[in-house]
Amino acid sequence: MNGGGMNEGRSASAASLVASRAASVAQDIDAAFDRLLAVPDDARARLYDAMRHAAIGGGKRLRPLLVQAACDLFNISRDSALRVGLAIECIHVYSLIHDDLPAMDNDDMRRGKPTVHKAYDEATAILAGDCLHDLAFEILADEQTHPDPFVRIDLVRALALSSGPAGMAGGQMMDLEAEKTRFDLATVTRLQNLKTGALIAFCVEAAAIMARLPHEARTGLHGYARDIGLAFQIADDLLDVEGDAALAGKALGKDAAAGKETFVSLLGVERAREQAHMLVEQAKAHLRGSGAEADLLRAIADYIVERDR
Ligand code: IPE
Ligand code: IPE
Ligand code: MG
Ligand code: MG
Ligand code: MG
Repeated sequence: MNGGGMNEGRSASAASLVASRAASVAQDIDAAFDRLLAVPDDARARLYDAMRHAAIGGGKRLRPLLVQAACDLFNISRDSALRVGLAIECIHVYSLIHDDLPAMDNDDMRRGKPTVHKAYDEATAILAGDCLHDLAFEILADEQTHPDPFVRIDLVRALALSSGPAGMAGGQMMDLEAEKTRFDLATVTRLQNLKTGALIAFCVEAAAIMARLPHEARTGLHGYARDIGLAFQIADDLLDVEGDAALAGKALGKDAAAGKETFVSLLGVERAREQAHMLVEQAKAHLRGSGAEADLLRAIADYIVERDR
């Protein structure tokens, strides 16, 4: 998503900070999935193979990176941050598998590979998604994630809220309706906040939960998370219009073809881009009170609208 024209030097250093931390997070996530999804020598092998196909090797791993960045603010162990990031990535990958199904977006390519229902079949794709969903909560509930059971319950509840009808799945329902109904800007904003924003917000909230940060001290983080979540989905919608499918690893131009109401259909490319940049500046303003420990969060905000995939 180009065309910001702002402070290129700052962007370049933000991009390299994101790139270096993202590479190490991606490696850790791949290794963790590899361990968790060892293929059993029985009739479930196909299910595990399908989960591995979707979960290993690919994706920006933005959500686990965001968890690490938010954990930088507090003294939370890398291991706890990784396990929470892994749980969120499980939910995210499940949502992508189901999003690509013929009953939803009917897509053939994801992360530069055939979608799960193409590489396997629809029934296997549904089950692989179900299992990744379950795995997310198994990971959070495990003692290795956090020693305090009250923290673990809070993590489980917050992830359930952000992925269910009041979060991602509810937003996906609205998104399907957006192909048939004319939504106004307020409704599209709500749709995006649920579909994409809620899970992104949980990445940041999880750090606050693990740090046992009092609720009144979370306002800035909540504002940051809400703004980058919306900016992220506007960027996805802009990439759908003007991105490069080879870089994105998925088919583009799908929203307009489906007659789907998005920020871009409502505002046009230029104003949608301006809105995304404005949200990023607003997100960073919420971090004013923090020092260098919030640098990765700031860099991620810039990256979200400058990314090309
Ligand atoms: C794509 O998410 C789906 C949306 C919520 C817009 P990402 O752009 O984070 O996809 P990956 O994880 O990099 O493949
Ligand atoms: C999907 O949104 C968001 C999910 C919750 C999976 P999109 O349908 O726009 O995502 P892409 O463009 O297929 O990655
Ligand atoms: Mg979709
Ligand atoms: Mg889709
Ligand atoms: Mg999209």
